[in-house]
Amino acid sequence: SADAGLNLTDIQGDILIGMKKNKELFFFFTIINSTLFRSQLGSGILPLITPTSQLLAVDTQPTTAVNLAFSQRGLTTLDITDDLGDTAFANGQIDNVASILGDETSNWESAFAGTSIHGVFLLASDTVDNVNATLSQIQALLNGSITESYSLQGQARPADQQGHEHFGFMDGISNPAVTGFSTPLPGQQVIDPGLFLLGETGDTVTRPAWAKDGSFLAFRQLQQRVPEFNKFLVDNALSNPNLTADQNAELLGARMMGRWKSGAPVDLTPTVDDPVLAADPQRNNNFNYSHPGFDLDTDQTHCPFSAHLRKTNPRAGLNPENTANHIIRAGIPYGPEVTDAENASNVSSTDPSLERGLAFGMHSVMVKSESNDLVPPRCIVAYQSDISAGFAFLQQFWANNAGFPGGKATQPGVDPIIGTDGLGQADVPRSPSGLDPADPTRIITIEQDFVVSRGGEYFFSPSLSAIQNTLAI
Ligand code: HEM
Repeated sequence: SADAGLNLTDIQGDILIGMKKNKELFFFFTIINSTLFRSQLGSGILPLITPTSQLLAVDTQPTTAVNLAFSQRGLTTLDITDDLGDTAFANGQIDNVASILGDETSNWESAFAGTSIHGVFLLASDTVDNVNATLSQIQALLNGSITESYSLQGQARPADQQGHEHFGFMDGISNPAVTGFSTPLPGQQVIDPGLFLLGETGDTVTRPAWAKDGSFLAFRQLQQRVPEFNKFLVDNALSNPNLTADQNAELLGARMMGRWKSGAPVDLTPTVDDPVLAADPQRNNNFNYSHPGFDLDTDQTHCPFSAHLRKTNPRAGLNPENTANHIIRAGIPYGPEVTDAENASNVSSTDPSLERGLAFGMHSVMVKSESNDLVPPRCIVAYQSDISAGFAFLQQFWANNAGFPGGKATQPGVDPIIGTDGLGQADVPRSPSGLDPADPTRIITIEQDFVVSRGGEYFFSPSLSAIQNTLAI
């Protein structure tokens, strides 16, 4: 539910609630005639942009929802030279590639590695035909002022896998609640709107007035090696005597993720899946890793310290609970289902048309901050100043940092799903501990990356009034 605290008719819809359709196209473009582009933006394109208010009720949702965001290069091309107050955005994601994100540059899609991406249209609908019809409409309105730089078609997986990412886990359960916008569900952290919207309460950086109610969008194309992931689970299945071999493989996967494939959190149901719990929004996010009689710094019987969920949101594992580093995630799978041949060989095909993964948008205000106010009290890493507080922070300081969360009896190791130990190198073995509840000091070495970054870009999603009054002419 929403209240009058935020101007929901002015904030683009993807930021706070996501466009939540089964098909979503990310259409990356280059502006080749900025005067023509700006002249078409207000009268032509703006009426197509979907604000948050339209997504709140089914009867006001458009057939195809449209959002629009610009890279720094795009804003510069439009002669918008104001400093938005974020170095990572200003320099572009390629600047973060190896040392901060740990990506191997040679895996990057050439468009992300190059200089042609000025902006992105996000088009979401029930069918690809609807998406394409709206794209044609946009291209006609823009009348040759843009060209396609790259595009990625996302689609929900079929049948009972709908809502699940390609490894098979239910996604999109845990996002922060935003003060003045959403009523929190049990267990949901409530975060100031200024962590996601520029110029709102909690945003401490000086921004140009027109940027208010815009948000930074970190886009990532993350390839998933599904057959390799499945093989790893079978080869390293745990040894709970009460479970079958298949169940022990499932258990390992659940402990690496922090949730069962159904979405049930392992912190609440550590040895067996519980699909009823998974489907209950009153319960499926209501945990914080603390249990009466168990020490938060030693107990991994419920959830490993290294689990993806716990690395990217440690909840009560940081005291006081972290409120500075949160993102609102909106991901959609791309690419086809695993083929029989891939399943039989346990190897992902190198055919580009069979690539699959997550087209991943994360919204945050990437606060430029001095080092100390970002240091979680019990974390033992060296922080540098002037680093984004959102996606890049989570990837660098939490997921890729073997020592995070600090103060634990056993060093957690890097995130077994998205972490990397090798800055800029592929397949450097990773050594998470805690995955085996029978022996939490045991390290199960992961030789291969199951998630390969194909790159991305940082964007700014302006408010509708900024599009009207500042970007358009
Ligand atoms: C949660 C999968 C990449 C941050 C989750 C969940 C799944 C998942 C299945 C549980 C669903 C939920 O709680 O909503 C993946 C996969 C990825 C990926 C397969 C790559 C292909 C990332 C990246 C980040 C990230 C790159 C940020 C650096 C988070 C956060 C949560 C989450 C913050 C929620 C944690 C919580 O609130 O408890 N992810 N993820 N994920 N993921 Fe990822």
